[in-house]
Amino acid sequence: MSLLTAETIGKKFGGVTALKDVSLFVETGEIVGMIGPNGSGKTTFINNLSGLYAPTTGRFMFNGEDITGLPAHVITGKGISRTFQNLRVFPNISVLENILIGLHCKIDTSLWDVYARVLKTRKVEKQAREKAMAVLELADLSGRHDTLAKNLPYGKQRLLEICRAIVSDPYLLLLDEPCAGMNPVEMDDLAGFIRILQKKGITVFVIEHNMRFIMSVAERIIVLANGAKFQEGTPVEIQKDKKVQAIYLGEEGDL
Ligand SMILES: Nc1ncnc2c1ncn2[C@@H]1O[C@H](COP(=O)(O)OP(=O)(O)O)[C@@H](O)[C@H]1O
Ligand SMILES: [Mg+2]
Repeated sequence: MSLLTAETIGKKFGGVTALKDVSLFVETGEIVGMIGPNGSGKTTFINNLSGLYAPTTGRFMFNGEDITGLPAHVITGKGISRTFQNLRVFPNISVLENILIGLHCKIDTSLWDVYARVLKTRKVEKQAREKAMAVLELADLSGRHDTLAKNLPYGKQRLLEICRAIVSDPYLLLLDEPCAGMNPVEMDDLAGFIRILQKKGITVFVIEHNMRFIMSVAERIIVLANGAKFQEGTPVEIQKDKKVQAIYLGEEGDL
């Protein structure tokens, strides 16, 4: 059984068809890439999947369960985390606090008396802090846990955002153009980080416009065009595909 199956997903915004009949699967442990020209429906696909809004047609099966149209926090609870196309770190709090915010939804506050609450809260806070530090360690950021997020270099802020997404121990991590605004060195760091996450057992679904990056990190690539699945294959197959090359003509992200 695949970790995720999307079955004929369609999405309309009024008269605009953003997605039509998109079917795909993601196996546990894979790094799957999604590419496609601007406006081809990539962000809409993960917005549907992560519960920002429901698809108009089709369904998402995750771990054998139909999760179509569930609220975003419920989907997060089932083990799907995401980042957004635009950077969403909180600039004026520390790196560590940015991660602790990601753990908030996991902290159980339903305790049976005040005394137990105090004791347990302390324990939970300590565990949360340890967990957050362990995640920062993966991104080589633990030494900067006290730094205000805005004082990190841009590429590190994007890694911080991913750290926040993984602190809840997701099965599946969705990344929407994580390279945007990065320089080549930062992109290499990010690729290395994604491979570390894979080794930790997290399955990664990454939308990206930067071809060099996606070709280096993804094991399988799905191409969207005009809201529909256009092609699917290994990075080498996709790079050689003349039809895929044609839909990128005139775009800045040449294959
Ligand atoms: N909330 C929305 N309301 C109306 N149209 C939308 C909305 N979100 C996306 N679209 C349209 O859906 C299409 C796909 O957009 P998007 O998923 O953002 O593409 P991509 O991420 O591949 O660049 C575009 O035509 C876009 O204008
Ligand atoms: Mg997008």
